[in-house]
Amino acid sequence: MGPKTEHIRALAAEKHAVILAHNYQMQEVQDIADFVGDSLGLALEAQRTDAERIVFCGVHFMAESAKILNPDKTVLLPNLSAGCALADSITPESLEEWMDRYPGYAVVTYVNSTAEIKAMSDICCTSANAVSVIRSLDTDKVLFVPDRNLGNWVKKQVPEKDIAVYDGACPTHDVLRGANVIKVKEFAPEAVIIAHPECREDIIAMADEVCSTTAMLGRIAKYPHTKTFIIATEHGIIHQMQKQYPDREFVAADGCIGCRLHCPYMKMIDLNCVYRSLTEEVFPITIEPEVMDGARRSLERMMAVPRDN
Ligand code: 13P
Ligand code: SF4
Repeated sequence: MGPKTEHIRALAAEKHAVILAHNYQMQEVQDIADFVGDSLGLALEAQRTDAERIVFCGVHFMAESAKILNPDKTVLLPNLSAGCALADSITPESLEEWMDRYPGYAVVTYVNSTAEIKAMSDICCTSANAVSVIRSLDTDKVLFVPDRNLGNWVKKQVPEKDIAVYDGACPTHDVLRGANVIKVKEFAPEAVIIAHPECREDIIAMADEVCSTTAMLGRIAKYPHTKTFIIATEHGIIHQMQKQYPDREFVAADGCIGCRLHCPYMKMIDLNCVYRSLTEEVFPITIEPEVMDGARRSLERMMAVPRDN
């Protein structure tokens, strides 16, 4: 039998630890966390906490951001294999190549990237503030990395700027096609479609709402007479939706919860990992001081810009 919720909560209190969980985490992990949120919400919470330890139930780049913003705290990622395919789609070498192609362009980096990439950037953004971050820049030439779908969506919102977009993608979102969503909609023609901007253009075009994972929860309240919502993002968020709106119905946009809209990295943390993380203090995030300073500059510039959604 695995560790019980009460054991983990008691241990967290004893160790002066805060447990942060992303909206895509397994239900059991979301339910033991002190705070559940999107990338921006978790980064802000990591900055606000006075706990000595942060147990970060998310993926590696998110735990890195928490460490960068809290260099004096211990930040633990309960499973080191929790990476991110999108973050891995850009390397310092490939970014340099794109910077050479677009000289003089300000580099805006989606937080789904390594600390090294953040350190090479002018500013970071998340899906909750990408439009405001780009509008806040005093230059019109922007190189957006690494997510092509988010970059193209932002480009449409800010047509007055010249935005070059890197060719990376999140396989979890990029696999979804318009035809899948049309098929789901046939069963619920009145349903509202809510999509994450990491989805492809055809999904974004048919969505009623496009926003970050936490903003999705707020958008549901905009439709008090709608029974069914089609959710075009990783299925973990549906747990929070069901908790907050038990009278509504949430359908994964691929028609099958856990089939395609599934992030294998986000599901690498379970209660056993969280328990071990607290008892053995594993796995502490460490970052080279020089990289840390550069990445912090890009993250702090971002934190000064308000959310769009
Ligand atoms: P959010 O910042 O919207 O939570 O998204 C993070 C993410 O990894 C999306 O794939
Ligand atoms: Fe990375 Fe995609 Fe998983 Fe988000 S859903 S953590 S972008 S692989």
